[in-house]
Amino acid sequence: MKDTFKDDINSGLSADKKSLPSKYFYDKIGDALFVKIMNLPEYYLTRAEFDIFKNQTHDIIDALKIKPDTYFELIELGAGDGTKTKELLKVLSNKNYAFQYVPIDISLNSLEQLDSRLSVELPTVKVAKKQGDYFRVLESLKKSQHPKVVLFLGSNIGNLTDVEAERFIINLSEALNTNDKVLLGVDLIKPAHIVLPAYNDSVGVTKAFNFNLLHRINSELDANFNIDQFSHTPEYSETTGIAKSYIVSDKDQNVTIGALNKTFQFKAGEKIHTETSRKYNDAVLASILKNSALSITAKLLDSKKYFADYILEKS
Ligand code: AVJ
Repeated sequence: MKDTFKDDINSGLSADKKSLPSKYFYDKIGDALFVKIMNLPEYYLTRAEFDIFKNQTHDIIDALKIKPDTYFELIELGAGDGTKTKELLKVLSNKNYAFQYVPIDISLNSLEQLDSRLSVELPTVKVAKKQGDYFRVLESLKKSQHPKVVLFLGSNIGNLTDVEAERFIINLSEALNTNDKVLLGVDLIKPAHIVLPAYNDSVGVTKAFNFNLLHRINSELDANFNIDQFSHTPEYSETTGIAKSYIVSDKDQNVTIGALNKTFQFKAGEKIHTETSRKYNDAVLASILKNSALSITAKLLDSKKYFADYILEKS
């Protein structure tokens, strides 16, 4: 892990256009900051998707075409704290659906927390947690011939570029059998005055989330980023529907990374791209699905029409 981190930071900061991978936001501090983000008034995404899970649970179940007596596996990629999923689990268990819940997460800590909370709150739900990289685990699930429903919520797919998302969808599709379903949650393309504050909140939690990357490089790779000399500047294009976060150097400065024995130069105004948060609509999703065996069979929207949960079916 550490070598990949070091190599990824090195190649990101050595490039002509500097960048740092957003996957490194999520250490212990980053996880806690993301929980704070989900509760910010400006960050509408989590509340919008929760609205769908809470108020349209039966529509979700109908759209997934699952039946109480046909055993299935409910697999969640990047389960997190499971707040939204619990709404679905509650109804499924009350109605005696035969299923097993398989939360997959890279963080063993968050999986164990989820598992112990579920054993108290929904003791009848069978939980088989799997720690690891999505695809390694999906590969292992291929062996099971039970019908599958894969949840990929929270607009987590938005961190991928369209090329990466296409690849991801093809990999996912190949791990599934005919008639298996995917429930894909995506943030929708909408005006900048709604999107931008979600990535630039008034109390600076999102800024701290981005800057956590610099703190990690300082402490884990023996670097000397002077955090006060950088700014957080998200951008969003209503035409493309793509939000991007940047850390901008406030002045000409050098940063030395001890673990790399290397000094990097930053010009005043120079940007480091830290995250892509792609927003979707039907056309964007259709284009990402076009070379896969997955197609859209239903779409559920929250009351404000900010967010969509698409149901995809494997042919
Ligand atoms: C978890 C990838 C959906 O892009 O909206 C939140 C991460 N970054 N605020 C997003 C995030 C800044 C989030 N996703």
